[in-house]
Amino acid sequence: MDTVHTLADLRTAVDHWKRQGHSIAFVPTMGNLHAGHFALIKAARSRADRVVASVFVNPTQFGEGEDFESYPRTLEADQRGLADHGCDLLYAPDVQDMYNTAAPRAAVHVPVVSDGLCGERRPGHFDGVATVVIKLINRVTPDCALFGEKDYQQLMVLRKMAADLDLATEIVGIPTVRESDGLAMSSRNQYLSPAERRVAGQLHAALERCALKIKQGEQVEKSIETERKKLSKSGFRVEYFELRRARDLAEISSPASESVLLVAAKLGSARLIDNMRFRHEGPSQN
Ligand code: PAF
Repeated sequence: MDTVHTLADLRTAVDHWKRQGHSIAFVPTMGNLHAGHFALIKAARSRADRVVASVFVNPTQFGEGEDFESYPRTLEADQRGLADHGCDLLYAPDVQDMYNTAAPRAAVHVPVVSDGLCGERRPGHFDGVATVVIKLINRVTPDCALFGEKDYQQLMVLRKMAADLDLATEIVGIPTVRESDGLAMSSRNQYLSPAERRVAGQLHAALERCALKIKQGEQVEKSIETERKKLSKSGFRVEYFELRRARDLAEISSPASESVLLVAAKLGSARLIDNMRFRHEGPSQN
């Protein structure tokens, strides 16, 4: 696997493949790769002739006081992992290569779907994500780009961006990879102390219980309140725990034919997010 650091070198490699008629699948990441990322690489492998990954810790999606400076940067280990999982090319630009024009710069804002949930708690976050992803896609020009469903709101923002801006690249969501206790894999899990790590799996358990109760007909607000309280007792500081319509994150008060429960909570210094989609068989107003 080759690693390139500049747009010029990336274009040389991609143009060569395109002239040979190869299709390209793209996996954008911020590095510190784990099994969740490697599942994306594996899925990318099965979808295209060539797989390109990027590692770029994007400053514009971090807010003030967030972990941009301390975000784990592990390029050598990432290179080894990507090569082992069949990635063909790694693009690892620096900030100068990525944001190579003078500020203020054009940016992408995806209205409504960016607004609540994480968008409300992290103002500007999804503008940073959407803008860097469209820049990366314009650079790599892939047939498809793959993203983990753990970041469900991010996936919805990117799908809406792709639809609204007529992107030729298909946006593909890949199921969350979990630890044995259900904790969704994330680079930020390493901020958990051993004691916090022992309770972290309760976030997923709360989603499972809540989805089951709603499916059994319990009132949405009641199910959510019960789980919120349990999480608080275990030491989580819950930022949100909400039921939304799965296809577009519209706010709903009763289950849609396909719904998603989304949760964000702090445990010690780690901010964890997770979600669970489920179907509702009975009549639905949504
Ligand atoms: O999900 C991530 O790791 C990042 O938000 C992404 C999509 C690579 C954009 O920086």
